[in-house]
Amino acid sequence: MLHDVQQGGIFYFIDSDYCAMTIVQNTLADEIVALRRAAEKRFSELRSVDDLEKFRVEFLARKGSIGELFDKLKTVPNEQKPGLGKQLNELRSFVESLFESLQQKLNPGKKGEEAAIDLTLPGRTVPKGTLHPITQTLNDIVAIFTSMGFAIATGPEIENDYHNFEVLNFPPDHPARDMQDTFFISEKILLRTHTSPVQIRVMEHQQPPIRVIMPGRVYRNEAISARSLSQFHQVEGLYVDRNVTFSELKGTLVTFAREFYGKDIKYKFRPSFFPFTEPSLEMDITCFICSGKGCPMCKRTGWLEVLGAGMVHPNVFRNVGYNPEEVTGFAFGMGIDRTTALRHGIPDLRMLLENDVKFLEQF
Ligand code: DAH
Repeated sequence: MLHDVQQGGIFYFIDSDYCAMTIVQNTLADEIVALRRAAEKRFSELRSVDDLEKFRVEFLARKGSIGELFDKLKTVPNEQKPGLGKQLNELRSFVESLFESLQQKLNPGKKGEEAAIDLTLPGRTVPKGTLHPITQTLNDIVAIFTSMGFAIATGPEIENDYHNFEVLNFPPDHPARDMQDTFFISEKILLRTHTSPVQIRVMEHQQPPIRVIMPGRVYRNEAISARSLSQFHQVEGLYVDRNVTFSELKGTLVTFAREFYGKDIKYKFRPSFFPFTEPSLEMDITCFICSGKGCPMCKRTGWLEVLGAGMVHPNVFRNVGYNPEEVTGFAFGMGIDRTTALRHGIPDLRMLLENDVKFLEQF
């Protein structure tokens, strides 16, 4: 009766009847070829340093498959040893070279450092963030005023009625206090509707002379559309000292407008009304989309309203404990979002709030 017993890849046919054993030879040559194929296949599947280490253990370690074949070499007849030994050595060199080529790529040591850099590969792009276009506009405006000697101040977006309206001389029944215009959080707490309350907070903590610029986000209870948002940005300015005059206000605003909108810009001042300034004005500039000819952007007037301003009302000074007989001052405030949209030809203000990276990347 014949049993075949596999031992380390060599088949021994044991003839139990005679208890004699015959070794079937020449399988080693086949195994060398098969192992080479197996190594190539496994190598093509390697993805990581860990994979590579498993590969090394499987094939190249002392007890790995190649080592096993070297052990078997001892059992073949002497005359076959040189030929098979040569083949085995070649197999080992081949698998070693595979291992080393990948090791240098995956895990560059000092020696492999240069080999690990493939200069023909395209570089990896590092995604770079950009400043939001509104932030850019804010920064540009703030830079113009700081170059004129203005300091920067900020205040809270959640304000109280006192700072947002009362101290700014708004009468109790002023329409801006209406629920329709203001987001109230409670009866006396609200989202600020303008940056003007920051003027008050500065004056409460500081004595004149004051020259300060106050950028920030403001909120109004308005229907959102392409032309208006319920949250937007303003830059507020305040200048308080002895003998500050209306002509200084105009000079400051004209200097700003020429710097920001261009040297040749045409402008005009219109009388206006704000509870916290007297007299008050609004400043228009020639529409820079149509150069004053009239277009949908300027509602065919040729003019764009860019800011409100005026001389600080004596009541405001009294409310913060300043003596209006001693100090005078001017203030101004301007919206940033529409200016940003005009600057870049953005057709819909809502795009400024959507945080679409593809849109924002363009600025
Ligand atoms: N706060 C005003 C608004 O939101 C803008 C403004 C007008 C600010 C005149 C001022 C100013 O400081 O003097 O419409």
